[in-house]
Amino acid sequence: MPPRKLAAIFFVLCAIAGAAASQSQPVKKLTIALTRHADDDLEVTGMVAGLSAGAVGYVAYAELVGLPQFTTTIQNDSNFADQAYRGVRITGIRLEQLAKALGALADSDLIDALCTDRYHSHYPADYIAAHHPIFALKINRERPAQWAAKAHVYDLGPYFITHANFIPRDKFLTYLEQPQIPENIMRLNFSTIAATYGPITPRGDFPPNSPVAQGFLIAKQNCLRCHFLNDAGGTKSSRDWPSLATRAREQPQFFERYVHDPQSVEPHAHMEGSPTYDDATLDALTAYFRTFTKEKPHK
Ligand code: HEC
Repeated sequence: MPPRKLAAIFFVLCAIAGAAASQSQPVKKLTIALTRHADDDLEVTGMVAGLSAGAVGYVAYAELVGLPQFTTTIQNDSNFADQAYRGVRITGIRLEQLAKALGALADSDLIDALCTDRYHSHYPADYIAAHHPIFALKINRERPAQWAAKAHVYDLGPYFITHANFIPRDKFLTYLEQPQIPENIMRLNFSTIAATYGPITPRGDFPPNSPVAQGFLIAKQNCLRCHFLNDAGGTKSSRDWPSLATRAREQPQFFERYVHDPQSVEPHAHMEGSPTYDDATLDALTAYFRTFTKEKPHK
């Protein structure tokens, strides 16, 4: 056999052996401290082995970079629109690997990433399995803050989540599945789909593919990042679900214009608009939010 062919067979065998070893190897467990040691310690809460309910654990950056790392270029992340980001290499950990290394309990089927501005991104198990989000630790081998200072761009650190190439799954009306790409992450909370989406499940029975069901899907992937109902969702905005619901019922035009282009209603609005949503998509959102006011008497 020619040496080149032998070498190729050897290489393939090594790759198979390597893959088998990495699957059978127990995941290295990270040390979770019960007090903070550095400003950029990652906070961990929720359904994690050894953490009691309500407790906050802290994981050092050095611990995180000690896990097996994954490096890739990024195809289509809107946080990377700046020219300075073209072709950068991101190093990090697959979110599913990080969950294992942190000792997330088997019953936890949703990860909630909380950012310094109280924005949340939610990662149900099916999203993680489909999109393999990357919990990023380095940009071009440097910590995000160091790299951003040199490139004169916004610092996404200490932690952010991205995807090598996000391909939307849900498509209906003018809606495409929204990538969850939070920056300035400070905490990962291990939770459940039931606890997170239960409170914002539309009131009443609605068939799949009905406008209300479509609005629910959009609300989970979009609105819940900054708006909240009880303990579910982000508090970047002070408006909760009932207040949005009242707008949707009593001032549907205001509601839809706000979602489409907030600055057209309120010049100082901080909310990001969804200019690609057409009327039918906006109507689906309105129909969904209205279900939360059904029981209330109209004053
Ligand atoms: C990135 C954060 C963010 C997201 C995502 C977001 N909002 Fe907002 N929203 C805000 C903030 C902040 C305000 C408070 C006013 C402002 O600064 O725009 C607000 C205000 C509003 C208002 C005006 C409420 C009032 O009574 O004045 C409506 C209506 C609204 N949001 C609906 C939605 C809907 C529906 C979605 C999902 C399609 C959504 N928002 C997604 C941040 C967000």
